[in-house]
Amino acid sequence: MANLGTEVVSVINKLQDVFTAVGSSASSIDLPQICVLGSQSSGKSSVLENIVGRDFLPRGTGIVTRRPLVLQLINRPATGGVNGAAKEVANGVDGDKAANADEWGEFLHLPGEKFYDFNKIRAEIVRDTEAKTGKNAGISPLPINLRIFSPNVLTLTLVDLPGLTKVPVGDQPRDIEKQIRDMLHKYISKPSCIVLAVTAANTDLANSDGLKLAREVDPEGTRTIGVLTKVDLMDAGTDVVDILAGRVVPLRLGYVPVVNRGQRDIESNKPIQAALEYERQFFENHASYKGKAQYCGTPFLARKLNMILMHHIRATLPDIKARISSQLSKYNAELQTLGGATGDGNSGNIVLSVITEFTSEFRSAIDGNTNDLSLNE
Ligand code: GDP
Ligand code: NA
Ligand code: MG
Repeated sequence: MANLGTEVVSVINKLQDVFTAVGSSASSIDLPQICVLGSQSSGKSSVLENIVGRDFLPRGTGIVTRRPLVLQLINRPATGGVNGAAKEVANGVDGDKAANADEWGEFLHLPGEKFYDFNKIRAEIVRDTEAKTGKNAGISPLPINLRIFSPNVLTLTLVDLPGLTKVPVGDQPRDIEKQIRDMLHKYISKPSCIVLAVTAANTDLANSDGLKLAREVDPEGTRTIGVLTKVDLMDAGTDVVDILAGRVVPLRLGYVPVVNRGQRDIESNKPIQAALEYERQFFENHASYKGKAQYCGTPFLARKLNMILMHHIRATLPDIKARISSQLSKYNAELQTLGGATGDGNSGNIVLSVITEFTSEFRSAIDGNTNDLSLNE
């Protein structure tokens, strides 16, 4: 695995923390994010969950994802130590056998509360979704912010979004299609957004709403990755080989086929590790894919994402640097008019030196990494 890459992205996340702490003055700086885009029930939440490797997102056949979920994955080495929470988990107090003291989630709207039980993370997403949008299929652009700390993830920011839909259901307004498109547009039109355009392999790729919308914001295809879900549900004798070869709807960054859990697997609580093992065997044993199994499936998608993110960060670095330094000089000028001697001035300086330090750390991590960016690792 590209550890240096993980380092680069972790610097990005640190920068994001600093910007959040600094507040609105720095909000003009957009750091890279990965957004999922596609029709309702195409498998977007399932793809994200498989990338994280833990069960925690609401999934299912209806309109389940009704608010954007901004998911910051933070790679953090296992400590090996046993703290209070770890003991509780080890003793099975929270009843989740898979719980691990080194993996937890935190919501921005519940500061200081650590969720070691990922089922409770899902329950909180559902609870807060309903609290803000009601129970009857309403949607809202108000994001839920969740951080996952784990030794088993790549450091990435992912955004789970409601799916494109045409026909209003429940309490949805008549212009639901437009409302969702507008919401998605806001996220994916940022040049800093990498779009994961999800299409179910058992539907017509040429009519993929996700790919169409992605093309509107990224006509050159420089920041759109195709993900083909439900490859296991294709009719016997059909496959996605032509799509992968770029013969159907060519995409510069290509497509990755995946197999997620089906609705019955969700109902029977099939563990994610079993699902990933099933996916691996599916591609390795399938006549159409066995020759290219290393380019199929969730682990390859995660590696490819990290690589593309690094390219992307590298390309946007000059712009980020320019914006940071213009804000630094603006800030310094303000401090000078204040005489530089007030308490506020000092805390401003501390924030600035942290930003400066991260910027140089960031630059050397990227510079040391330029020969390492091959897509095949
Ligand atoms: P979303 O609405 O795009 O977020 O889609 P979900 O992740 O909620 O999945 C919608 C439904 O499709 C669920 O019932 C999933 O179990 C099912 N599903 C998603 N991906 C796959 C897949 O690769 N294979 C199979 N068999 N079912 C899938
Ligand atoms: Na769904
Ligand atoms: Mg979803």
